[in-house]
Amino acid sequence: KKQIPRDKCIDNTFTLLKEGYLFIQNRTERYSSDVFETRLLGKKAICISGKEAPKLFYNPILMKKKGALPKRIQKTLFGVNAIQTMDGRRHLHRKKLFMTIMNQEEQDRLSKITTEKWQEAISRWEGASRVVLYDEVNRILCQSVCEWAGVPLPASEVKCRAKDFSTMVNTFTAIGPEYWKGKKARKRTEKWIRGIIEATRSGKLRPGRNSALHQIAYYKDLDGKLLSTQMAAVELINVLRPVVAISTFITFTAVALYEHREYIKILRSSDENMREMFVQEVRRYYPFTPFLGAITRKNFMWKGYNFKKGTLVILDVYGINHDARIWENPYKFRPERFSEKREHLFDFIPQGGGDPSKGHRCPGEGITIELMKLSVDFLVNKLEFKIPEQELRYSLIKIPSLPKSGFIMRKIKTRTSM
Ligand code: HEM
Repeated sequence: KKQIPRDKCIDNTFTLLKEGYLFIQNRTERYSSDVFETRLLGKKAICISGKEAPKLFYNPILMKKKGALPKRIQKTLFGVNAIQTMDGRRHLHRKKLFMTIMNQEEQDRLSKITTEKWQEAISRWEGASRVVLYDEVNRILCQSVCEWAGVPLPASEVKCRAKDFSTMVNTFTAIGPEYWKGKKARKRTEKWIRGIIEATRSGKLRPGRNSALHQIAYYKDLDGKLLSTQMAAVELINVLRPVVAISTFITFTAVALYEHREYIKILRSSDENMREMFVQEVRRYYPFTPFLGAITRKNFMWKGYNFKKGTLVILDVYGINHDARIWENPYKFRPERFSEKREHLFDFIPQGGGDPSKGHRCPGEGITIELMKLSVDFLVNKLEFKIPEQELRYSLIKIPSLPKSGFIMRKIKTRTSM
């Protein structure tokens, strides 16, 4: 039995917020170990990284979610007691709901709606002196996902609803007034969506049978009961909010095209495969999900270390996407590394690992990749624009990260020459 390297401290929560995405990597390097112990939010925590770590983290016999997600994060990002906190049979049953909502046909329907909304936005942008891509894509995705999900959204509300979705995502690690903004945004959104669930159940709204709204409003839990209005609202928001959050990856896609201009030409003259390789590399290279947490179900040994039942385990998502033992030259942006198309159950985990239908891996990866590919097509094939001087840098400290300027574009025109 080996001793797990211990990071000496009373509590490292503030240090984590100071070091951001690199918190775990800094220490695995310091201790030359993929495992170390620290204290976070007043509890002992074991951080794990490296190639083998996702397999342990996604082993349902050894790990559970109950108790892993701080209430602070539930009150902004995910909603209280949502699917992210469930385990076992109840989780699998709930997960089926999400997998059904996001089946291939529904993915295609969302892509089609999103293409139309992009097209409409372009005609607005053509007259504008400048456009902030992040804000615009937020609104495009908010309109698209609401239409797709069957949620009515009057044009006059698009701006503030889109802002509330992005605030929930952007404030979950904040403290003080910024954090309260996140809580308020969630409260407002939950109230709105509870009203929509009630209107559906009373027959005032009649969304399509396959829509997320219909599926969630009439979903029955394992015990055969409908979800409470509040719980149904939380889970519907768990479909709407993350689609709007793809705007972060789309903004990073625009930054990647700016930082690696040679790919604009390549993407123009190649097929969909190249677009897919490009967006995969954006999901690996740029920071979004930092870490994930779970709790050990029992005592066990891993790599010669003793893990005690009930311990918080933190998985180093960002570090694993930048681990030189998994990725050659990990800090080089190189879409070609994805030329071999294969399943990435445990070695590429920007949206979690394992099989999404059996564990907690994100059910929205297909949608994310499709909507990112669609955006690449607009940015390289359908638009012409100038990129003025601006602060495009992004922080590895602030979680979640985003390029500071949000990617400003000027003199936007529809691209005619092919
Ligand atoms: C879970 C990331 C887009 C819905 C997750 C997890 C991550 C993640 C890291 C947690 C995995 C775990 O706990 O093991 C992302 C990122 C996205 C994205 C970075 C890009 C913006 C989406 C989309 C949807 C979605 C588009 C829905 C349409 C969900 C749901 C869960 C989840 C419902 C909970 C799954 C469960 O606990 O079983 N996502 N996601 N996500 N994601 Fe995503």
